[in-house]
Amino acid sequence: MEAGAQSPFYLFAAAPYEAAIERLARLDHGRPARFWLSAKTQPLPALWRWWRPRGGIEVVSEFEFRGALRAGYGPDEILVNGPAKHRWLPGVSRRGLRVHFDSLLELEALLPIARKHQWRVGLRLRTPVEVDSEDPAWAFPFGLEPEEIPVALARLAGQGLDAGSLHVHLKTNLPDVATFRRGLDAVVRVCQDTGWRPRYVDVGGGLAPAGPRGLEGARFDDGLGVERYAAEVRRLVSRMSWVEEVWLEHGRHPAAGSGVLVVRVLDVKERLGRRLLICDGGRTLHAMVSVWEEHDLSVLESRRGRTVPTAVQGPTCMAFDCLGRRELPVSIRPGDHLLWFDAGAYHLSWETRFSHGLAEVWWEEGGGPRCVRSAETYDRAAAWWH
Ligand SMILES: Cc1ncc(COP(=O)(O)O)c(C=O)c1O
Repeated sequence: MEAGAQSPFYLFAAAPYEAAIERLARLDHGRPARFWLSAKTQPLPALWRWWRPRGGIEVVSEFEFRGALRAGYGPDEILVNGPAKHRWLPGVSRRGLRVHFDSLLELEALLPIARKHQWRVGLRLRTPVEVDSEDPAWAFPFGLEPEEIPVALARLAGQGLDAGSLHVHLKTNLPDVATFRRGLDAVVRVCQDTGWRPRYVDVGGGLAPAGPRGLEGARFDDGLGVERYAAEVRRLVSRMSWVEEVWLEHGRHPAAGSGVLVVRVLDVKERLGRRLLICDGGRTLHAMVSVWEEHDLSVLESRRGRTVPTAVQGPTCMAFDCLGRRELPVSIRPGDHLLWFDAGAYHLSWETRFSHGLAEVWWEEGGGPRCVRSAETYDRAAAWWH
């Protein structure tokens, strides 16, 4: 605030992101590991520019792709993933891109440009663990089925293209070792069944961050911490002697802890013997993940003493707009600031403009925080409309 920030705002920093990646990089993955920044997790141009000398970027849309080019990434430093890329990729393609095909239809549609632009290509596989955990009759909509892999390989070979990478992404906040292992076993199986020998195996992200907890209070990384994750990757490549590099596209694990959301208390209500803090930011506008995650929250001003059950509400006309309910000091008053931690992953991606504009964003990479996005004004938002 001393630097002039106006709530609600996010403050993001490079150092926690870097520390998380360094911790991962020290682990033994069985092969040299290459880390890709997951663009969708944190669509923050300042972060993308800061990361560029350190590694490549993984994108899944035209916006992310063009943003990556603008941030200075060369085509071979951009890994294009995601479904239905035939809608947008031909319009912006470059020579030498790295692209993972997601379906046979998409592959067919993109083959001419893949050949013309000499893309380095791979295939995403859907493994048996990628089903809706509440209704396993429904599969996740990403990747090729194992029986489609030989068809895809043959189509690529027919065009002189070699599928150099095999990609999976085995859910997010991966719950346990067994699920991860079952997914990776499917990778080995498809290679055995088809004789495919990809040079790179991209095991996606999925690793939970250390801070956030589930709504029942359990830490997401209880089931599969970084060490066990790396051990499973080692086990995988020990059965794939031909693999030269392991690719990792961690999103939430390195990013979550690199951000804080700051909101200000505007009003305080006592209802049914409990306290409701009405704030200028909250779940609907800035923190969708609070639907399923509990994050640490503290008061910037020094407020001690008795605590009472308190709900932290956002400013929109939805009871749903609740960052969290917990014991907080009864001395919190209008004008105080609340810090919602671990706001560095999937917060910008899920921001809404529900009755209000987008928030201010600050970035720190050494040398002090600077404002990299001003709060959206009415005039700017109104200018969109014809
Ligand atoms: C293809 C792909 N790579 C990487 C990520 C990042 O995942 P996570 O945040 O679970 O690490 C995702 C997230 O959905 C994804 O779909």
